[in-house]
Amino acid sequence: MRHYPAGVTVVTLNSEHGPIGFTATSFASLSLEPPLVSFNIAHTSSSLDAMLGADSVVIHFLGEHQHHLAQRFSRTADERFSDRSLWTPLDTGEPVLHGTPIWVRATVHHRIPIGDHTFVVGLVTRVHDNTDETPAAAPLLYYQGRYHRPTSLDR
Ligand SMILES: Cc1cc2nc3c(=O)[nH]c(=O)nc-3n(C[C@H](O)[C@H](O)[C@H](O)COP(=O)(O)O)c2cc1C
Repeated sequence: MRHYPAGVTVVTLNSEHGPIGFTATSFASLSLEPPLVSFNIAHTSSSLDAMLGADSVVIHFLGEHQHHLAQRFSRTADERFSDRSLWTPLDTGEPVLHGTPIWVRATVHHRIPIGDHTFVVGLVTRVHDNTDETPAAAPLLYYQGRYHRPTSLDR
């Protein structure tokens, strides 16, 4: 699967034990009407219990300038939210990571265990789009075990 390129997201949620989040490249857009998105969470993930109990999530589409957040949210879970300057909770509780070009809030619609992951389907209830800022941040990509920025082939 390392040969398949992917955009990089961080999924966050609020739990009874505080904020939870993890880097995920399994994000997909599933449906426009209704607006449904999906991602997978591994059954080995320390975020699994919180994800199984969550009503809603925020999915951040990271920009290339957020490479450090992709690394942070795939490493030691206890330290992911330790820097309070990096995030703010929404009124609804989910943490939002500062400087993210686009994030969507979704309520959890389905959770389907499939193999060694659970497939999570979310109904989008809010979209926050900063990409009309100039210059617009380029998305962060993951390919062959490394982070990349896109290069256009069009002139
Ligand atoms: C580029 C990248 C993409 C990832 N995508 C997913 C994903 O889609 N789903 C998932 O459960 N974990 C994914 N992970 C792993 C998690 O971010 C995290 O590293 C893993 O759950 C271990 O965290 P834990 O120690 O809290 O269990 C990805 C990691 C990286 C580096």
